[in-house]
Amino acid sequence: MKQTLAEKLIAASLVEGEMIKGRRIGVRADQTLSHDLNGVMSYQAFEAMGLDRVKVELAVHYIDHNMIQADYKNSDDHRYLQDITAKIGVICSRPANGICHQLHLEHWARPGKTLIGGDSHTVAAGGIGMLSIGVGGFDGAMAMAGEPVFFTMPQIVNVRLTGKLQPFISAKNIILEVLRRISVNGGVGKILEYTGPGVDTLNVAERSTVTNMGQETGATTSVFPSDEQTRKWLRAYHREEQWIPLAADDGAVYDDTITINLSELEPLIALPHQPDKVVPVREVAGTRIDQVMMGSCTNGSLQDILSIAHILGGKTIHRDVDTGLYPATRTVIRESVARGAYDKILASGVRIFEPVCGGCNGCGFAPQTGGISLRTTPRNFLGRSGTASAQVYLVSPEVAAASALRGVITDPRDLNLPPITYEMPEVFTDDRDIFQPPSQEPETITIRRGPNSKPIPDMPGLPDIVSGEVLLALGDDITTDHIVPAGANYTPIRSNIPEFSKHVFKVVDDTFSARAQKAEGGFIVGGSNYGQGSSREQAAMVPRYLGIKAVIAKSFARLHLANMVNWGLLPLTFVNLVDHDKISQGDRLTFDAIALSEGQPMVIKNVTRGTDIYVVSPLCQDDLASIKAGGRINQVKNKKKP
Ligand code: F3S
Repeated sequence: MKQTLAEKLIAASLVEGEMIKGRRIGVRADQTLSHDLNGVMSYQAFEAMGLDRVKVELAVHYIDHNMIQADYKNSDDHRYLQDITAKIGVICSRPANGICHQLHLEHWARPGKTLIGGDSHTVAAGGIGMLSIGVGGFDGAMAMAGEPVFFTMPQIVNVRLTGKLQPFISAKNIILEVLRRISVNGGVGKILEYTGPGVDTLNVAERSTVTNMGQETGATTSVFPSDEQTRKWLRAYHREEQWIPLAADDGAVYDDTITINLSELEPLIALPHQPDKVVPVREVAGTRIDQVMMGSCTNGSLQDILSIAHILGGKTIHRDVDTGLYPATRTVIRESVARGAYDKILASGVRIFEPVCGGCNGCGFAPQTGGISLRTTPRNFLGRSGTASAQVYLVSPEVAAASALRGVITDPRDLNLPPITYEMPEVFTDDRDIFQPPSQEPETITIRRGPNSKPIPDMPGLPDIVSGEVLLALGDDITTDHIVPAGANYTPIRSNIPEFSKHVFKVVDDTFSARAQKAEGGFIVGGSNYGQGSSREQAAMVPRYLGIKAVIAKSFARLHLANMVNWGLLPLTFVNLVDHDKISQGDRLTFDAIALSEGQPMVIKNVTRGTDIYVVSPLCQDDLASIKAGGRINQVKNKKKP
């Protein structure tokens, strides 16, 4: 049978289930990726399960997210991560080598392999022809232990690219166009597979910008073929021998097709506070701005930096615009310096930061109160920048640089500059020795743990009768940034669940944590796409720690749903969506959890209103068993008991 590329990649790593659309399947990881923000929890889970060595071809850990060492907490975490990775067989990238997704693309990603990563933007590696899937920290730990990762066999959408990008209209505009067309949940249950003659015109870094931000559509992943561009990339990074050609079969059948003519794209911009609120830049051109943040894992490549330098060269940024740049990796910095790009950018007045996540997840470079910030990052969720009142817009590096010069949102073509042509270097600086290999004598390593490091709390199983108060009733598109805040004040305590629990839902309701503690738990009601965004499992763990038993929503984001299963927080969906409006904050609900069964609607009684509401869990029987046990970690521990 003719196969799409996505189907070929899944078939190569399938270990459980059948590749029938909508059925649950399990794939094994060839490679795993973790980072410091979610990694502490991953490795604690790995230890709590009594595991001592990873069981995958390659496991790499990156210290890139929590870089502000304002006190001991992040430094202690970095030491813990360097020790534990050395002990259990994981390669470690020390602080400020670069941002995980770009570093992985440069040094480790291989076409045809499967990468499971404890970060939602792991999907960036689809740009090199890998099956790359983002998971929460617990699933990341299971993948490292050689266990399958489960998801629903997706539909495969053909995103057919024709034409060629025009000057000052770079790859970011491709994915903004995809988001404009299909929205932040248009990719749910799907893989976006890029095909067509336009694909040949994009190098691997450009493809990775597209696959990276494909995450914002809710897609399981995105993938490009492995072709001569891929070979060129691997050759430039000194590993051409890892290249294999990969593409869909001629005549492969897709579930849907989207066609984008690259020649017709124009500069696009996502308005606050969702990546799919996309309009042409010209519609908002002239809007005054306060800040520009360039770089990140989405747009911190050499090509991006050279393009920014070309626009800023010989000029000074606007006096009212605080402008910063986070390059993606050390190699990008060295290559940019060698080409004189850093000099131009520095001379223009831009602040240049380390190659880390930084401002992207609110760990530095937060905008002023009510500030308008233009960012080349993949997300503009409310509060993610570290300033709850900020208005964040998402743009390409070219729009960002042009706007930094003028002080207002600007179409870069209006600067009337000559176009820049980028030729990827034949060979990049060889930085492969920046990684720390695992220890050959793991028994000699003593793991250092700081006082902020707290063990994963024990959480009981689901009671037979579940009762409580609705502590929050929310609308659509609640992100994990709404649930547990990002930012330099909060990320250092993400692995200290009792402490972090004081800040849950702070972005939407500052009283939630105290009320949940007083009520000893209860329910949350949500709209569509609940849990969209980042893979942070604390968005499931922390409400659960506070005693929340179930979230009742119209629908859930894939990654958050998996985290809920892992940490024992029951997801329920409304059988009739209009019932969402029949529950209010403060209502008392009750249901019989013994009745929970795959695909079986059941009744929740709204005791306050005297009404019945029909709900169903989107989980399969195995996942429901995890919920009843109080989460997967309890299941693994129970199995180990004599
Ligand atoms: Fe880091 Fe932001 Fe990318 S947090 S991994 S730069 S999406």
